[in-house]
Amino acid sequence: GVIRTFDFTVSRGIIAPDGYERPVLLVNDAFPGPLIEANWGDKIIVNVYNNITGPEEGTAIHWHGLLQLGTPWEDGSPGISQCPIAPGKTLTYEFIADLFGTTWYHSHYSAQYAGGVVGPLIVHGPTQQKYDIDVGPIMLSDWHHESYFDLIAKMLAPGGSFIVPSDNNLINGKMNFDCSTVTPGDATPCNSYAGISKFNFQTGKTHRLRLINSGADGIQRFSIDQHTMTVIANDFTPIEPYDTTVVTLGVGQRTDVIVTANAGGSESAFWIRSNISSCSVSRQPIAVAALYYDGADTTKPPTSSPWDIPDPHTCANDDLEITKPLFPMAVPEPTFTQTMDFELFTNSSNITLWKFNGVSMRANYNQPMLVQANEGNFTFPEERNVLNFYTNSSVRIVVNNKSPGSHPMHLHGHNPYILHEGAGDWDGGIVRPNNPLRRDVQLVRPKGHLVLQFDANPGVWGFHCHIAWHASGGFFASFVVQPDEVVKMRLPHTVEDTCDAWDAWTARNV
Ligand code: C2O
Repeated sequence: GVIRTFDFTVSRGIIAPDGYERPVLLVNDAFPGPLIEANWGDKIIVNVYNNITGPEEGTAIHWHGLLQLGTPWEDGSPGISQCPIAPGKTLTYEFIADLFGTTWYHSHYSAQYAGGVVGPLIVHGPTQQKYDIDVGPIMLSDWHHESYFDLIAKMLAPGGSFIVPSDNNLINGKMNFDCSTVTPGDATPCNSYAGISKFNFQTGKTHRLRLINSGADGIQRFSIDQHTMTVIANDFTPIEPYDTTVVTLGVGQRTDVIVTANAGGSESAFWIRSNISSCSVSRQPIAVAALYYDGADTTKPPTSSPWDIPDPHTCANDDLEITKPLFPMAVPEPTFTQTMDFELFTNSSNITLWKFNGVSMRANYNQPMLVQANEGNFTFPEERNVLNFYTNSSVRIVVNNKSPGSHPMHLHGHNPYILHEGAGDWDGGIVRPNNPLRRDVQLVRPKGHLVLQFDANPGVWGFHCHIAWHASGGFFASFVVQPDEVVKMRLPHTVEDTCDAWDAWTARNV
């Protein structure tokens, strides 16, 4: 493999992706952040400089979905794999692009990724499905006009709730907004004609689109007027191609599709649409982008009409039956099975939080659990919500959703088998035991269950709901996987240096 080096500076900024100005945090002043591109097996090096000032804040970048085989300390999860990067400090991440396909990176510090710290990450690998043009990442994200910090503060205050309707929905960081709907008296600059994203198709050619839900909360339903899409991958798993008019993506999920430009003459123009599902909370759930064939007049908006897409009302992903991995992998007999229920509750201070497997997680950014485990100490405070799976080689997790909402469940450091998802309790059935879907985020429907299983990758790994606010509200567990291997790991000095700088910064700020 080749070495690919990137320099990231995280800093504050004011942007108006939909015309309404709001404070954000950005990577290299861009939203979405810069593209990381590599080939399968390459080494990726990213120097992350924390330039967040006024006020200062920590940060840490997570490379979503990568396995970090033998490098769990590069996973970018503060409180788990590292201390946050202190203001004014740089941390160099070094890891292998160990899976191929489409993913994203995002801050894993508090709900910072809902504040703008997100970007696409593409790993090129063997191509199963031929196509002519790689259109690149298409990032779909709900959008709030308040800063993530203020939103979290309100949610986690007495009497707060996690129902925080988004103000808009963006495609590659763009959408228009009706400024006349802004609360009277709000003097924030707003421009109703901010503009939308535009894409180009070459007539008759096949195009690969890499869809990424990089939002905070909303489930996206993506479609292109008058074009069917051929799905070729879900997260990092290539699948047997199938055609659809709509792709459903929970937060953190990716789907790669191939689209043929055969829906009209070279002057054609069509709407690309992404609607936030009625299963999610949004004030303005519609996002559009314009698609122009090679000869079309790109100054004119398309006039196409939408597909008639029925709402499946399951609030889950497409049927697992139709998403078959291209390279079969049979699920082994699990060596251990863990059941984990989750639900909302209100504590004695009237604060609404999540309880996952009986605990509402509270992080300690000064004491990353991987560092503690590496020192041979596996006794964690209960509020850290840690499960130790000891020497087990394959662990099955049965998740029961006791809440009325849908949740995108994400496991770090693994590409788990998705054995079953459905309403009510699990009946023990497995979808295609000889070739179940594998992906790193899967939606579990309201009052439903999700069964997944993973082959052990030694480390300490987060398992959480990818809705930004839910993770902050305690919907987070950590798995100690093969502790006997973890104690043998030689952590690079950057781990300790980062904690020393963070400890010094927090000591100054008490
Ligand atoms: Cu996309 Cu815990 O991460």
